Parts: sequence; structure tokens; C-alpha cells
Amino acid sequence: MRDSFRHLAHASLTFNAPLSEERAGALVASLPISPGHHVLDLGCGWGELLLRTLAAHPATTGTGVDSERGALDRGVRAAAERSLHGRIEFVEADAATFVDRADIVTCVAASHAFGGAGVALRSLRECVIPGGRVLFADGFWEQTPEQLEVIGELPNRDALRAAAEDAGFRIEQDDLSTLAEWDAFETAWRSGLEASDDREARRFAATRRKQYETVYRGVLGFAWFVLVPPGG
Ligand SMILES: C[S@@+](CC[C@H](N)C(=O)[O-])C[C@H]1O[C@@H](n2cnc3c(N)ncnc32)[C@H](O)[C@@H]1O
Repeated sequence: MRDSFRHLAHASLTFNAPLSEERAGALVASLPISPGHHVLDLGCGWGELLLRTLAAHPATTGTGVDSERGALDRGVRAAAERSLHGRIEFVEADAATFVDRADIVTCVAASHAFGGAGVALRSLRECVIPGGRVLFADGFWEQTPEQLEVIGELPNRDALRAAAEDAGFRIEQDDLSTLAEWDAFETAWRSGLEASDDREARRFAATRRKQYETVYRGVLGFAWFVLVPPGG
């Protein structure tokens, strides 16, 4: 995707994933975080979930890692606006090779940074301290789509669960984004492109809309796991 299209597509998004305000609030509240704990978000984008986690849990710190400078800059601005800049750092780096240890490790819609869910989960296990939690959220095929090439190969839900268990985790929470979360995400993703003066941007949005409606709506799932590492 062109950088300019990405910028337009992201402008109206709160999260770069099918995630409602309600689910975000529930996740942030459910994570076992205490003062002094550290949160690591790998493939954080602009770090909205990380920022909300720190805002909800006083005296915690966070590191967000992403390879896209523009997204990180948006996170830095948001941290300053919310007076969180003293507790959070945004690092431009490859999530797959970033070395850190944290009480809470999150990876939402970013397993591709590691080369897929299985590798990602094994890497996340190395980053989380015993007694901590991993929040891992990723796409999966609910059914095999007619045009697989539009999104590409993904595991089914059972394979995603098995990958978490094979990496040594116990699954503490297991939920799915709803169709309403998907529809809201796709609508917001397209809206900046649709409002653009650039005809190519509007055409790009129309292609995405057609693909969503005819190929992956209700077929591409998105799973949310809270995972307990070995010994926890
Ligand atoms: C779909 S977005 C999800 C962003 C964020 N987790 C969220 O939920 O809003 C995937 C993110 O992974 C980042 N990414 C992709 N490959 C990466 C890599 N090798 N290292 C770090 N970040 C990467 C992208 O720049 C993008 O911000």
C-alpha cells in the first residue's frame, strides 16, 4: 500500500484492528497489572491500547515497538497530550528481534512481523516474565475463503489455539471480534480514502469494500487471547 493511502486509511481509526471501545476497556481492566509493572507492545502501531493500559494503571511503564515511523510519531503526540510521555517510550525497531522483558506483553494484529502466529507466540513467551500475561490477537480463517490470495494463508481457530498451547501458554481468555467490530473497523479504514480528492485513493477504498463484502466479511475471524506463560 502507498504511504499516502496508509495515512488516509489510518486517520479515522482509533485502533488498527477490529476492536470496540467496550472490548478495549474490558481487556485493559482485566489484565493483572500493578504499580511498577512494565508493558511491552510489539507491533504497537500508534499504541492506543498501550496508552490506555498505562492511563488505567498508575505507576506502570510501557514500551511500544513498531517499524513505521509515522505511526510511532502519532503515539508520541498522543502520549504527550495525555501526560503519559514520562512513562512510555516508542521505539522504531523490528519487533521480531527486539529484546525486552515485561510483565504484560501485547501483540495485536502484528504476528506477521514475526513470520506468523507460531513464531510470534514462541517469541512472546521469551519476553514475558513468569506470572505475567500475554495479550495476543490475530486473524484466522473461519472458513476457507473463495479467493484466498486477497488476504493469504492463515490458520483456522483451532490451529491458533494449538499454536498458543504448543508455545507453552495456558489460555486464560479466548474471544472473537464481532461482526459489528469488523464492520466498524472496515468502515473507518475506508472513510479517509473515500473522502479524499485523490481518485486513486477512492478507487482503492472501493476495491477494499468489494473485497470485504464479497470475500472476507464473516469469513476472516479475529481472535483475542489472554495467555498465561509456563509457571504462572
Ligand atoms: C495491523 S497493525 C496493528 C497495530 C496495533 N497493534 C493496533 O492494534 O493498533 C500491524 C503493525 O505491525 C507493524 N509491523 C509490521 N512489521 C513489523 C516489524 N517487523 N517490526 C515492528 N512492527 C512491525 C506495522 O507497522 C503495523 O503498525
